[in-house]
Amino acid sequence: MPTVKELMRKDLQEFSAYAAGGMQVKPVPGKEIVKLNANEMQMGPSPRAMKAMADELQRGHLYPMEMVGKLKKKLAEYTGKETDHITVFGGSGAGIQCIAETFIDRDDEVLICSPTYMAYYRLASRFGGKLVEVEADDGVSTDLDKLSAAITDRTKLVVICNPNNPTGTILCPHKLDEFISRLPEHVICIVDEAYIDWVSIPDYPSALKYVEEGKNVIVLRTFSKIYGMAGCRVGYAVANKELTECLGSIANTFSSNRIGLAGAAAALEDEAFKEAAYQNNTQQREYLTKEMEAMGITVVPSQTSFLYFAPHCDTKKCMEILESEGVYIRYFSEEYIRVSIGMPHQNQLFLAALKKALQQLKKECA
Ligand SMILES: Cc1ncc(COP(=O)(O)O)c(C=O)c1O
Repeated sequence: MPTVKELMRKDLQEFSAYAAGGMQVKPVPGKEIVKLNANEMQMGPSPRAMKAMADELQRGHLYPMEMVGKLKKKLAEYTGKETDHITVFGGSGAGIQCIAETFIDRDDEVLICSPTYMAYYRLASRFGGKLVEVEADDGVSTDLDKLSAAITDRTKLVVICNPNNPTGTILCPHKLDEFISRLPEHVICIVDEAYIDWVSIPDYPSALKYVEEGKNVIVLRTFSKIYGMAGCRVGYAVANKELTECLGSIANTFSSNRIGLAGAAAALEDEAFKEAAYQNNTQQREYLTKEMEAMGITVVPSQTSFLYFAPHCDTKKCMEILESEGVYIRYFSEEYIRVSIGMPHQNQLFLAALKKALQQLKKECA
């Protein structure tokens, strides 16, 4: 008799549940919980989005199709594309799955530069493909030369997170132009722009221009970050018409819901809220970086809503001390951990807990 586990698809039997944001948060008596472990935007959704979502509740009995159409129109205006270049998903995570399901055949290769967003590590094997990893010499940037050199006849997808999660680094636009122009025709490139709205480099170009040029590029975006709607699950892809048609034949159009879709459409119109979120993040990013560097920490320069840093101590122990203070951040390696940028008072609590952790760990080493 097979066990239930053995009834699972062979490719998936070794998978375990993915805990978004790493450690689950537990209450700490007498401490405010500061949850900076999942790159959530701490201002919440915009008031206009919240109103639109509350209004939409009364139509919760209706399927979401017409709302998908409305959001697509808004996104077409927002991105300067046609609606037949846009696919809406229940979060960009669902978009990542859909792209994989649509394009990965058995033994196809999915190429990434490590470290990058966790979901991309699980993609290839889920569909019988093979993950191929390269790593930049500095361990934090995306190395386009190494990615180019690793392309083979079996490469189907190349994934570029720009800016990258978890490192916060961003690519030189000219280098990306060159990389995209050299891509062979059998390769599709995902450019994940989940964090593009936080970039403070003036006139930094989006990969949307490659879609205009008709390249085999899928740009992924989300309402989970600057729009503060991670719990509402709305994301989208922008790609050429042919790619969009392929995605459209596989995408589950009912995976997004009317409430989130209504909120997303309203959020797009609330420029003032987006600007306030951007300003808080940019100021706090600069402030936190300076304060942490003053503590002797190596902080990777970030263009995102988080900081990837090496505290030069036992990172697991450092996190344990932070957690005992109610501060949750994300573990990556013996060298690096990541903190999401929060509201000023949360960042203060994080800095105070970090200072305490470093002092305690230094004493232990002495
Ligand atoms: C780079 C990147 N892409 C995609 C996602 C998924 O976002 P969502 O599914 O919430 O749209 C995340 C989430 O943290 C991310 O960091």
